[in-house]
Amino acid sequence: MSATAARPAGNPAPTAWSRIIGTGSCLPERVVSNDELAAEMAQRGVETSDSWIVERTGIRQRHLAERGVTSSQLGTEAARRALQDAGIEAADLDLIVVATSTPDFVFPSTACLIQANLGASKAAAFDVQAVCTGFIYALTIADSFVRIGRARNALVIGAEVFSRILDWNDRSTCVLFGDGAGAVVLQASAEPGVMAAKLHADGSQTKILCAAGNVAYGEVIGDPFLRMEGQAVFKQAVTVLDRVAHEVVEEAGVTLADVDWLVPHQANVRIINATAKRLGVPAERVVSTVDLHANTSAASVPLALDAARRDGRIKRGDTVMLQGVGGGFTWGAVLARM
Ligand code: UT7
Repeated sequence: MSATAARPAGNPAPTAWSRIIGTGSCLPERVVSNDELAAEMAQRGVETSDSWIVERTGIRQRHLAERGVTSSQLGTEAARRALQDAGIEAADLDLIVVATSTPDFVFPSTACLIQANLGASKAAAFDVQAVCTGFIYALTIADSFVRIGRARNALVIGAEVFSRILDWNDRSTCVLFGDGAGAVVLQASAEPGVMAAKLHADGSQTKILCAAGNVAYGEVIGDPFLRMEGQAVFKQAVTVLDRVAHEVVEEAGVTLADVDWLVPHQANVRIINATAKRLGVPAERVVSTVDLHANTSAASVPLALDAARRDGRIKRGDTVMLQGVGGGFTWGAVLARM
């Protein structure tokens, strides 16, 4: 078959770009400060303090979902806000991709539950699981669908209730995470748009961050709680976030000086600052919400993006670098013009 063969009838036409035309987010109402968390943990004989948490992580508080509140509920609300911001209807959506490691069920996917909640009956819907890099994976997949013409309007959501998989007696992990959801609407566009994307995984490093248990034969097998070798993850994160930033600017044919905003995964302010310093991005060009949200895994990047758009920092035409890193081990980045 020749490379110039005619496109078969019914095949969609490719478009040049996909562009983020709306963002939204949703946080559970309940805010728990470090002091409140430390007091609760003290009752169980687990010692921590506001000063330790702030000094080592930059986290001051987190939002925690009440019992019964699920990723699909948070994701649906974030999606509604993103659709409203984009000025399109759920019925216009062709695709919904949800990044989550805390789905409501084994199946159906959280994306299908959100599709039903929104009434997005035309949209294909599926979940992506790449832990804290999940949103970057989901956005890259949706961008590819839009570019090849398989979707015109795509909804990309990161939604998590990590509080469900934490061991609240393990102070080295439970103080670090929070719940929430963020969403973006991507639309086919004649101008950029998502300029470059790069995804990575190293499955040989599974053990440094995992929740390696499951339900089988009616029993819990293994350890279902999140476990992390904090220092190993820290070192890996700083190295790979630096590397992947260079990869995406190179792919886009721009330089780091062209990046207006760095929106990294929100795990630890020390990782965020170290990455920004290595990349030469000034502190005032880095979006950090880790103090308010803690680490919300796949939701952290869209939550931070939405916060900076709504407070007027990120404007139309700005070049934004989104970065994720986390369990798997996985990491990646997307460079986008807003
Ligand atoms: O989203 C996926 C990506 N995840 C990350 O990026 C997380 C990466 N890792 C980190 O952010 C950091 O490694 C942590 C915040 C998890 C830990 O900070 P650290 O500076 O690496 O501390 P450490 O693990 O070396 O612990 C120092 C001390 C230990 O006590 P000893 O052994 O020195 O006596 C810990 O037992 O701090 C102790 N510790 C705590 N103390 C009070 C650990 N957790 C706590 C706590 N409160 N919550």
